[in-house]
Amino acid sequence: MSSELKRGLEGVLVAESELSYIDGSVGKLVYRGYTIEDLAQEASYEEVLYLLWHGELPTREELAEFEARLAEERRVDDDILETIETLAAADEDPMAALRTAVSMLSAYEPESEAEPDDLDATLRKGRRITAKIPTILAAFDRFRQGNEPIEPDETLGYAGNFLYMLTGVEPDAVAEETFDMALTLHADHGLNASTFTAMVIGSTMADIYSAVTGGIGALSGPLHGGANEDVMRTLQEIEDSSKDPVEWARDAREEGRRIPGFGHRVYEVKDPRATILEEKLHDLSESNGDDTWLEYTTAIEGYLEEEGLTEKGIAPNVDFYSGSVYDHLGIPMDMFTPIFAMARAGGWIAHVLEYQDENRLIRPRARYTGPEDAEFVPIDER
Ligand code: ACO
Repeated sequence: MSSELKRGLEGVLVAESELSYIDGSVGKLVYRGYTIEDLAQEASYEEVLYLLWHGELPTREELAEFEARLAEERRVDDDILETIETLAAADEDPMAALRTAVSMLSAYEPESEAEPDDLDATLRKGRRITAKIPTILAAFDRFRQGNEPIEPDETLGYAGNFLYMLTGVEPDAVAEETFDMALTLHADHGLNASTFTAMVIGSTMADIYSAVTGGIGALSGPLHGGANEDVMRTLQEIEDSSKDPVEWARDAREEGRRIPGFGHRVYEVKDPRATILEEKLHDLSESNGDDTWLEYTTAIEGYLEEEGLTEKGIAPNVDFYSGSVYDHLGIPMDMFTPIFAMARAGGWIAHVLEYQDENRLIRPRARYTGPEDAEFVPIDER
C-alpha cells in the first residue's frame, strides 16, 4: 500500500469513466467524446442528459420519448410544496431548501422498494429527481416573494419551463437558448468535489436521493458552486461603490484575497465553458443595451492577465461568466448555485450509475498523526 499522501486527492485516479474528459493544459472538455463547444451550440440539455445517462446521442424518436418522460415527472407532491413554503417563510438559503426538498422527494418515490442494484430503477429515480428540481426551485423563489407557485408546462422544454415557472412569463427564444446552453455547460465535469461526493455515497449502494442530496451539500461551498454568486456580489459591489474594477482587483490582490471565478484545480488555462459564456455575455449585453457586467469582467480579466496570473494558471473559470449571464436573464443572485445544482444533478446521476455498475466501496485512509499509547484517565480524575 502506498504511503504517499495526496492532500485534496489532487491528481489521484480513483475510477474509470466514459462520461467526461478534461484536458486542463489546453482547456478542452468533452462529454462522451463530443466537445463542449459542439454540444453547447448544437444539442439541447435533454439531449445531453440522454447522452450522459444512455451512452449515446438520441434519435429524434428517442429524444421525443425521453423529453415526454421527463416532462410528465415535473410535478411535486403538495406536502413537498408545503415544506418549501415553510422553508421560504423561514428565509432558508435556496441551496439548503433544495437539499431538504430533494431529500424529502424520496418519501414519494413510486419505486422505493426497488433493490439497490436495480440500476434501471435508479435511472428512473434519477430522472424523477432531475425533472422535479426546477419545480422545487421555482416554487421556493415564488413563495419567498409572496406568490403562488406556477404549475409546470409540459409543452415547454426543460430550460424554458424553468424560466416560465420562475417568472410566470414564457421566455423568449434567446433567453431559453442561453439558459439551455448554460445547463449543458454545467452538466458534467469529471470527478469534481460534488460528483465525487455523490459517488462516495453511491459506492455504499445508498439510494440516488442520498447521493444527489450529498452532491447539493458539496456544491454549496464557496470553493465550488458558490463562486458564481461571489462573482456577482463582487460586480454588484463595484457598481454600488463606483469603484474602478481594476482598482478593486488590485486591492483584492494586495490584501491577498482570492478572486472569485478565477483558478481551477484541473484547468491551467481559461476554462472553455467560460469562453462560451463570455460570448453569450457579449450577445446579451448588446441585446439588453447594458454592458456594465461585460465591461467589469473584461477589465478584471485583463488586469489579472497583465499581472501574470493567467500565466500561473489562475485564469477565469465557468463561474466568472455564468453569474452575469444569469443576471441578464433576470435570475436572482442566490439562485445561481441552485441552478448549477439543477444542471449538475444530471452528471451526479450519470456518475453514480456508471460507478455502481462495477461498484467498489470507496474507503480511503488517513495518515494518523495523533498521540499513541495515551493513558486513559477516568472522568472524575481529569
Ligand atoms: N485568486 C488569486 N489567487 C489564487 C486564486 C484566485 N482565485 N486561486 C488560486 N490562487 C493561488 C493561490 O493563492 C495559490 O497561490 P500560492 O501558491 O502562492 O499560495 C495558488 O494559486 C494555488 O492555489 P490552490 O488553492 O492550491 O489551488 P487549488 O487547486 O486548490 O484551488 C480553487 C482551486 C479552489 C478553485 C481556487 O482556484 C479558488 O479558490 N478559486 C476561487 C473560487 C472559485 O472560483 N471557485 C470555482 C471553481 S470552478 C467550479 O467549482 C465550478
